[in-house]
Amino acid sequence: MKERLHALRENVLDLLQEVITEQQLNDLRIKFLGKKGELTEILRGMGSLSAEERPIIGQVANEVRGSIENIINEKQEAFVRAQTEHRLQAELIDVTLPGRKLTSGAIHPLNKVIQEIEDVFIGMGYQVAEGPEVESDYYNFEALNLPKNHPARDMQDSFYITEDILMRTQTSPVQVRTMELMKGEVPLKVICPGRVYRRDDDDATHSFMFHQIEGLVIDKNIRMSDLKGTLLQFVNEMFGPHMQIRLRPSFFPFTEPSAEVDVTCVQCAGKGCRMCKQTGWLEILGCGMVHPRVLEMGGYDPEVYSGFAFGMGVERIALLKYGIDDIRHFYTNDVRFLQQFDRM
Ligand code: DAH
Repeated sequence: MKERLHALRENVLDLLQEVITEQQLNDLRIKFLGKKGELTEILRGMGSLSAEERPIIGQVANEVRGSIENIINEKQEAFVRAQTEHRLQAELIDVTLPGRKLTSGAIHPLNKVIQEIEDVFIGMGYQVAEGPEVESDYYNFEALNLPKNHPARDMQDSFYITEDILMRTQTSPVQVRTMELMKGEVPLKVICPGRVYRRDDDDATHSFMFHQIEGLVIDKNIRMSDLKGTLLQFVNEMFGPHMQIRLRPSFFPFTEPSAEVDVTCVQCAGKGCRMCKQTGWLEILGCGMVHPRVLEMGGYDPEVYSGFAFGMGVERIALLKYGIDDIRHFYTNDVRFLQQFDRM
């Protein structure tokens, strides 16, 4: 029996050489030390031993069991160590690696200017409204007092989608939409920023798509002086407290009287330079008193209410404010250009 026990241990040692997985080790443990394992099998024969032999064999059996258990446990620990080692290797962090640079985005200069203009008018009690870029002929022209054969429609070459639907050529249609929404309520004070589209050839000062901000105020007793005061306030907040404005008579079908507004030249402060063609003034927007027909079509009685409106090009304001020389910079999204605005 002694020999069988020693042979068993040799056998375990041999087989252990081949064990490469924890599963195999477990199987080995059960095969030799388990309840139905080989060691138990041998020990069952103890009953037939003599009383002298029994304690001797018992001792050998305990030794063999102990040493098998030891080797198996050692192997088990080796597995755990190897696993830990493997995990540590896999999770190794190289603290000497340089960090990844996080580049933060910036608000586009056009959006910045729009936000700034919005802030100025919100400060004066205006609401901000928006309208669709794909617009009906009715809102874009008809309800703004430009009937089908009106020659003023030639002023704007438009992108038509169907005979009655086009890309809006101005933000003025939002005036009409707002009047309809307000259902004759006053005071009505809105600005409407958004994209507009015209069939222009792109160059340094023209683009087939650009941005406008429209303004509309309707109430009782709204006068031209309210318009002028509002625009002066806007210009002072946008360009500086010393800037002046002047109104030149003009024509728009939806306003009467109409005016074009100039601001003190941002380059020469009014002295006269190449930028302002020696006039000391730069044109920035169109405006006027809302035409009675437009008020009427929008649901306001022109005998009771009056209003003013204005419309400006955002790109033009941005060019002047930041001294940019080409409108195309706004659309090509050259990061070197855009980055100059991220902390302004
Ligand atoms: N919509 C005009 C344009 O695109 C600008 C304009 C002029 C808007 C006078 C107005 C206004 O509201 O009263 O050129």
